Amino acid sequence: MDAFIPYAKQQVDEDDIASVVSVLRSDWLTTGPQVASFEQELAETVRARYAVVFSSGTAALHAAYFAAGVGPGDKVITTPITFAATANAALYLGARPVFVDIAPGSFNINPDLIEKFITNRTKVIAPVDMTGLPAPVEAIMEIANSCGLIVVEDAAHALGASYKGQQVGSRADMTVFSFHPVKHITCGEGGAVTTNNPEYFEKLVIFRSHGMVRDQNLLKNNHGPWYYEMQHLGYNYRLTDIQCALGLSQLKKLKQFLARRREIAARYNEAFAVCPYLITPPAASGAEPAWHLYVLRLAGDNPPRRELAERLHERGIGTQVHYLPVYRHPYYQDLGYPAGLCPNAEDYYQRAITIPLYPAMEDTDVERVIAVVLEEVDILYK
Ligand SMILES: Cc1ncc(COP(=O)(O)O)c(C=O)c1O
Repeated sequence: MDAFIPYAKQQVDEDDIASVVSVLRSDWLTTGPQVASFEQELAETVRARYAVVFSSGTAALHAAYFAAGVGPGDKVITTPITFAATANAALYLGARPVFVDIAPGSFNINPDLIEKFITNRTKVIAPVDMTGLPAPVEAIMEIANSCGLIVVEDAAHALGASYKGQQVGSRADMTVFSFHPVKHITCGEGGAVTTNNPEYFEKLVIFRSHGMVRDQNLLKNNHGPWYYEMQHLGYNYRLTDIQCALGLSQLKKLKQFLARRREIAARYNEAFAVCPYLITPPAASGAEPAWHLYVLRLAGDNPPRRELAERLHERGIGTQVHYLPVYRHPYYQDLGYPAGLCPNAEDYYQRAITIPLYPAMEDTDVERVIAVVLEEVDILYK
């Protein structure tokens, strides 16, 4: 029996392990030199002025919305096709997420619909680079600038992606990344916000550590050399030196990881394009996607998605569905969001299935996934 192929998997090598071990033998376990180095390398990688790392991508989203000034009663515009954290982080601050539908045939928010949802309570627009396909941030920045709003790009799927030569990480006012094990690089858990804006940078750093300030220039009082003061309600959202050592070591391999992801995605595109029952991911002109996930859509009415997932599992191939539209989670239904709110997202959800994609996949794994998917789809549609 062939080994089970999961839909995603980290790749941790001996050099990653050695980096972590060397930190365990050092004087610093948290908030030491590895944090500063990882932030610097990350900022350079995405061509941003600043990077601030956090204990998770979710914490990074929370911090970015805080830095954008989101508070009780405000609105954050986002897409329903995302991990719930993009919207949840608005709820943490007492704000309300507003879901704007994805464009037909696309995985990303439709910029043409955004303006009609903007009110005087809207603070942030948070597009998501779903699966690693860059969202139309250029158009969204234009809308935001004309209305005095802030764009927080959720690029948890898109480290290393670019659009028209511009790196994801320097396009929006703030950009959020995640280093969960299924992502492009991992810290175990971890996240980051990148920005070119010094004011956001300052707020992000303060929020990460209890809202406390030590910088002499920022203190409101000063009782002596020991003195620090709390100016905001912040959190302990720090990332450790141990995790940053892993992140730094992983970041060195980002190019190689991306190249392999792109190679596999290209092979899948070629193999599945000929199948009339499958719709391959949308081609985005000018974009160099990061291919965090490979999402196939099943054609036709009542697509047999559940049956396909079950049959693939039986044959040793892992799948997942990214995502149930956020407003359809019971928690959001209880908040009063109607089911069926975004018709394109609903249509996407009933036909989407994520198949395995990770750099450690062998060519034989890729070919096995292709052969089994095509066989099972053929059976289900005939
Ligand atoms: C689009 C998106 N945003 C945010 C997050 C949250 O990141 P984390 O798991 O690091 O908290 C994820 C993680 O899966 C994600 O996919």
